[in-house]
Amino acid sequence: MSLPFLTLILLLQSTIIITSAAAKPLMHICSQTPNATFTRNSTYERNLRQLMGQLYYQTPPTGFTNATITGQQQSSPDQTTYGLANCRGDSTPSHCQACIVEAITTVHKTCPYSKEAIIWLDNCYLKYSSVRFFGRVDVRNKFHMVNGKNASGDIAPGFDGIRQRLMVNLAGEAAGDPARFYAAGQVEIPGSVRIYGLVQCGRDLSGRDCRRCADGLVGELPRFSNGKVGGRVVSGSCSVRFETYPFFRA
Ligand SMILES: *[C@@H]1O[C@H](CO)[C@@H](O)[C@H](O)[C@H]1NC(C)=O
Ligand SMILES: *[C@@H]1O[C@H](CO)[C@@H](O)[C@H](O)[C@H]1NC(C)=O
Ligand SMILES: *[C@@H]1O[C@H](CO)[C@@H](O)[C@H](O)[C@H]1NC(C)=O
Ligand SMILES: *[C@@H]1O[C@H](CO)[C@@H](O)[C@H](O)[C@H]1NC(C)=O
Repeated sequence: MSLPFLTLILLLQSTIIITSAAAKPLMHICSQTPNATFTRNSTYERNLRQLMGQLYYQTPPTGFTNATITGQQQSSPDQTTYGLANCRGDSTPSHCQACIVEAITTVHKTCPYSKEAIIWLDNCYLKYSSVRFFGRVDVRNKFHMVNGKNASGDIAPGFDGIRQRLMVNLAGEAAGDPARFYAAGQVEIPGSVRIYGLVQCGRDLSGRDCRRCADGLVGELPRFSNGKVGGRVVSGSCSVRFETYPFFRA
């Protein structure tokens, strides 16, 4: 067992105690294809462990890392693992770190031998695969959430349309900010509520692909969220969310 591994485990264990109050994951997907698993003590396992170490150390300062670990058997391309972690644009380095730790520990438990997995939390997502996926728009891995409360009563007519305009604007704004690919904003419906919205893209994308990804998800909001006071569409490359309360750091 190499020293870096021990160090990481110790670090993870000590950090878990501090951050045990971190938000729970929203969703995870483990690879499902029959040969998309690795065995114990394999090169892939070692590479994945090293990948997690890099994501853990390198993501919090900037909010994003992608990494490629080739390990000892370069002759066998199957052993290479590719991964990235992306924190939400309003995360501080310590929020980001807490989120990455939760992502790593949970994915390790829930997808223990998967060559490919993705896990989403409020403040970050983490993805790895034996296939290089950087820069490709992933909307195959996707889910929706709605805020179960109905809009009726406290919400003005026109709410859904105003929400769509806000979200379309935020999608454009996020795509225009490649340093974070993040935008958050709000709109007040006079005499009624405020709508708060957020758009985040993975920083491995181009601005054009960020726009394409976010526009696609915003376009799905009406189908799932009309008449609701909150909703999200989350994919492997971008996510969109709205609520009638502030849920991001200004
Ligand atoms: C299984 O692995 C082989 C070799 O890496 C690859 O060519 C093939 O596409 C994989 N099959 C599936 C179902 O993932
Ligand atoms: C993995 O490697 C360790 C240390 O080399 C060994 O003790 C253990 O039996 C191995 N496990 C498997 C399943 O091969
Ligand atoms: C990260 O992704 C970029 C863009 O796809 C790529 O050029 C770069 O090689 C990747 N870095 C690593 C360490 O994999
Ligand atoms: C929301 O409205 C729908 C349709 O009117 C109703 O079936 C559902 O029970 C309501 N849900 C809540 C949480 O009030």
